[in-house]
Amino acid sequence: MNPRNPPQIGEGKSVSGLDRIARGATATILRSGPESVLKLYDSWVPRWAIESELAAMSVAAAAGVRVPRPGNLFEFGDRLGFEMALVKGQDGMERLMESVDQIRAQAEALAQLQAALHQAKAGGLGTVKQRLALKIDRAEGLAEEDRTRALELLARLPDGNALLHGDFHPGNVMWSRDGPWIIDWIDAGQGDPVADVARSLVLFGEGASEDVHRSQYRAAYRDAYQRASGSSLAHLDDWLTVNRAARLFEPAEPDREALLNLVRAGLNR
Ligand SMILES: Nc1ncnc2c1ncn2[C@@H]1O[C@H](COP(=O)(O)OP(=O)(O)O)[C@@H](O)[C@H]1O
Ligand SMILES: [Mg+2]
Repeated sequence: MNPRNPPQIGEGKSVSGLDRIARGATATILRSGPESVLKLYDSWVPRWAIESELAAMSVAAAAGVRVPRPGNLFEFGDRLGFEMALVKGQDGMERLMESVDQIRAQAEALAQLQAALHQAKAGGLGTVKQRLALKIDRAEGLAEEDRTRALELLARLPDGNALLHGDFHPGNVMWSRDGPWIIDWIDAGQGDPVADVARSLVLFGEGASEDVHRSQYRAAYRDAYQRASGSSLAHLDDWLTVNRAARLFEPAEPDREALLNLVRAGLNR
């Protein structure tokens, strides 16, 4: 890319010629300017989901949460994308791989960041309970009776109006010289913070094949979240059950059998 003649991003403009800097599960990240990136979604990602990501990023930014400043939504052929501020740094997953001896400290840093984020109110965003219900509806491998019971359990859990990220794991926090930046808000919404804690615990491998590093990370994260938020984590076990059931909808889950057993045990408690 010629720095004196950077491609202009906008309606009808081309993205060819931009350098690709990362590839995620739903999007490609391209360098669009000296201080900006373009998040370009795969064509199957629905418009409402991307609009919801942008709305959540705006709510977060307005509440003082450390989120890269987003631009407008644009169409590039059959794909949608938006620009945001470039974060120069490593994501938390890369940092973990570099220093496994720092597991506790890194889990604590993540928990503190998430507890601070949960202080923000998220009026107007979709509810996390709706999101979970949609996923449980389509979860693979769940017996119909368990699906119904999981949905009933979900309906009984508290609503809440805190800003929840919905996919808070080390890979979605980028660390630059001036501190952490939270990215990837496509699953964000409003709800009870404990729902977001449970989702994170499931993402840290909760329910998957046991691994000493993962269990140390989960324990450190959970303790640090409680210390930072003062929360008693009410209904955590039930939030874990519904989040595990919802996780069965996601193709990325590596250990379905273990997760299914935990869902059944949770429903039969
Ligand atoms: N603002 C940014 N600045 C620099 N790199 C970014 C930025 N946003 C995302 N990335 C990189 O792109 C990857 C994928 O972005 P992400 O928003 O997490 O998409 P996905 O939903 O596909 O996981 C991230 O893990 C990170 O490495
Ligand atoms: Mg991501």
